[in-house]
Amino acid sequence: MIFVRVVFFLLAIFVESEREISANSCFSVADTIQGLNACFEKGFPGDNTLSDAQWERMLPDEEEMKNYQALIKTVLRGGRGRFCNNKVLALYPSISNYIDLQHFQGHFCVIYERNVDPETGYFLRSWGYVVVADDVWSRRDLHHSAPHFQSDGNVLNESAAIFERTQSRTLVMAGASRYAVKGSKSTCQSEYSATDCAHNNNTMFHAVNAAIFEYQANCNHKSCAFIQWHGMAETTCPICSAFVSAGVSNHTAIYEDSRIPAVKLAAAFDGIEGVGRACTPLESACKLVASTNVFGRLVNGVAREDVCTRRSVGASGAFVHVEQRRAARDQWDRWARAIKSAFPVRPSHVPRPAERRHLSAPSNRP
Ligand SMILES: *[C@@H]1O[C@H](CO)[C@@H](O)[C@H](O)[C@H]1NC(C)=O
Ligand SMILES: *[C@@H]1O[C@H](CO)[C@@H](O)[C@H](O)[C@H]1NC(C)=O
Ligand SMILES: *[C@@H]1O[C@H](CO)[C@@H](O)[C@H](O)[C@H]1NC(C)=O
Repeated sequence: MIFVRVVFFLLAIFVESEREISANSCFSVADTIQGLNACFEKGFPGDNTLSDAQWERMLPDEEEMKNYQALIKTVLRGGRGRFCNNKVLALYPSISNYIDLQHFQGHFCVIYERNVDPETGYFLRSWGYVVVADDVWSRRDLHHSAPHFQSDGNVLNESAAIFERTQSRTLVMAGASRYAVKGSKSTCQSEYSATDCAHNNNTMFHAVNAAIFEYQANCNHKSCAFIQWHGMAETTCPICSAFVSAGVSNHTAIYEDSRIPAVKLAAAFDGIEGVGRACTPLESACKLVASTNVFGRLVNGVAREDVCTRRSVGASGAFVHVEQRRAARDQWDRWARAIKSAFPVRPSHVPRPAERRHLSAPSNRP
């Protein structure tokens, strides 16, 4: 089984040296983020594939989290490919052996893990990957994430496609299945598994999302939101193919406000012809409101050190949690159109190159 996996990987990914397999060659086989995703996914551990000890070794330590968080903020601030190369890693020594950055398609900074373990075929740390779209190319301060590789269906593929089509700002992908370690327990919320990064705060996925949230502290509902993509079983929430929440239940009355990102996204989806409909907790008593989601709690105002144990009192409205049955997961165009209509293009906050030259011209004169 492992042998077959490694052979598959070798077909897609090129052997850089005798010791390590590099993910760099994904860039020569893919010309979209969706294509890169397909290549990277080959190195992500699936259900029941790791031991506890293997997972422990993959988890980031505090210094690695801090360095990765600082790197993400540097890239976000840089804009237009500035700092999107491996030279910047000199500032972040604890992660420099694991991470690569590549500027892709002229407007994406892809931050990904460099090395695959030749014995297992998995990325050494299974931290997943992050894409930051350049500030000028991206039109909306929308931050997408997908925490449940494989176990929720094809949601990484889906969110990669939606991110690209909507000219959003960031994409954060988990690098292992929610059930990668059989029978394990989250150190954060013991009713969930250790590798469930929507319910554990010790993963790089959570650290990266937290850094993006800090960067985008001023998130205007009009064109900004943190959208997390999930898949649900066909028997859950039978009335709605998609169930969209803000990370809190209906008791907060937030769902009556049509300006709230979760509410306007569900309404926009329903306004476009397609299979099934999207509901919010206002219309459906579905339990999957994501009130235990650690990133959702953070966005909704819970302190960083309390996200495991404390529910949020209210909701900021910036968090959007999308649960989907198969029919909804397959309607990427409908979601992309819904996002474009729910979140208007933000005014460009960065001067274009020509304007910038003009602005700086006077002071350059002798
Ligand atoms: C991603 O979705 C596309 C459909 O657009 C499909 O052709 C492709 O096989 C999917 N890739 C993976 C890795 O699931
Ligand atoms: C949600 O709350 C509103 C009142 O704010 C109520 O009208 C509605 O029926 C509730 N929805 C469900 C599914 O219970
Ligand atoms: C995770 O939550 C625990 C409390 O449950 C806290 O002590 C710890 O600092 C948190 N870790 C991170 C990385 O935020």
